Amino acid sequence: MPLDIVIGAQWGDEGKGRFVDLLSVSADYVARYNGGDNAGHTVTVGKQTFKLHLIPSGIIHPHTTGIIGNGVVINPAILLSEIDELSQAGITASPERLHISHAAHLITPGHLALDAAQEAARGRGAIGTTLRGIGPAYTDKVARSGLRSGQMMNLDKFAGDFEAHILSVNQRLTSLHSAEPLDPETTTRQYIEYARRLKPYIREVSRELSEALKNGKRVLAEGAQGTLLDLDHGTYPYVTSSSPTAAGALLGLGLGIGSVERVVGVTKAFQTRVGAGPFPSEVFGDTALRLRGTGEHPWDEFGTTTGRPRRVGWLDIVLLRYALRINGITELAITKLDILSGLEQIKICTGYRSAGQELYDLPYGPGEIEAYSPVYEVLPAWQADLRGCRNWEDLPGAARRFILRIEELSGIPVRLISVGPEREQFVEVS
Ligand code: IMP
Repeated sequence: MPLDIVIGAQWGDEGKGRFVDLLSVSADYVARYNGGDNAGHTVTVGKQTFKLHLIPSGIIHPHTTGIIGNGVVINPAILLSEIDELSQAGITASPERLHISHAAHLITPGHLALDAAQEAARGRGAIGTTLRGIGPAYTDKVARSGLRSGQMMNLDKFAGDFEAHILSVNQRLTSLHSAEPLDPETTTRQYIEYARRLKPYIREVSRELSEALKNGKRVLAEGAQGTLLDLDHGTYPYVTSSSPTAAGALLGLGLGIGSVERVVGVTKAFQTRVGAGPFPSEVFGDTALRLRGTGEHPWDEFGTTTGRPRRVGWLDIVLLRYALRINGITELAITKLDILSGLEQIKICTGYRSAGQELYDLPYGPGEIEAYSPVYEVLPAWQADLRGCRNWEDLPGAARRFILRIEELSGIPVRLISVGPEREQFVEVS
């Protein structure tokens, strides 16, 4: 059955939006299944560029229906502002076109306050979260005390449940963190307003998607974040609180395992991460500046959601192979190959050194990589600007060799390569 999943194979920000945009052309449904507004996809429609954090970015294609699955945590204020922004740009995100799972959990001002207080309490051990309330919202979900969007269907009951939630958060804020409590009345009134507007969007999206798949409709699942930020399979504890991996798509949309056709793993031609946590192939100095950019271009390595400069390094094949295994990736899409043009040499991290041993796999998963140092393979560089390349033959020999080496080391075919920020700046590898 035709479910395609686009997965981040690194620490997020791989440029998944580019390929979501491409694949949405033939999708009937575009669905977000994990995370919340910690994600950020830059979307360009005509001359307008805006950032979507919650609404699946494939919605900009007018023939698609957008889905927000049960695995997502929703900040209603952000969702409503995105709906308004889209409609100002002439893109309908009405209840007919955008469907929200009744089982998706809500992010509240209580979760935002807890995220800030918990990060402050971690001190030097801070995770570097996006401060969007993600961790606390999933914590309430797992503790079975969260608020689900379906509760907004009954406004009177929701008002009581919401106020009780704020009072419970206030207890945690004041007694554990000596932080200011929130005003239960104002926040409840605000959320009743949000509920009034969002009620018509709420559906049983799991059934809707299952029926669509049975009827041969194509569903595109848009992953947010990346494999190495997965709560179970990432660089714990420096992870997000959801499951960005392929299995997370099934869980986060309520679909069975037989539906998957393609799992597209997106990786940059190098490696980036925001926030704290291990990063064996990280580089500093001039090379870092070259890979990151200065921040003057929208494609430079600064966070879409937080604006923070991203840490940068060489492509890590051990971690890529791990991502392939965890997700069952069927094909690779490589972004930002053009950024490597003009370097003196290009490195790929093919293994690690630890306690006098060389490792080519992760004996205890990626949480253990802090103490490992990288083993590099050095490849010839190229000087040509790749931004005009549209075919495999247009790429310089050294760039082709780089891609072929990634295929060889990972054992997975590379199908798409992006060579610039514009929609048409990519090479399809047949
Ligand atoms: P949280 O998801 O805000 O709790 O943040 C946890 C970790 O995930 C931090 O290191 C964040 O920087 C990282 N993170 C969360 N969302 C993204 C994303 O969309 N791209 C890259 N990193 C992210």
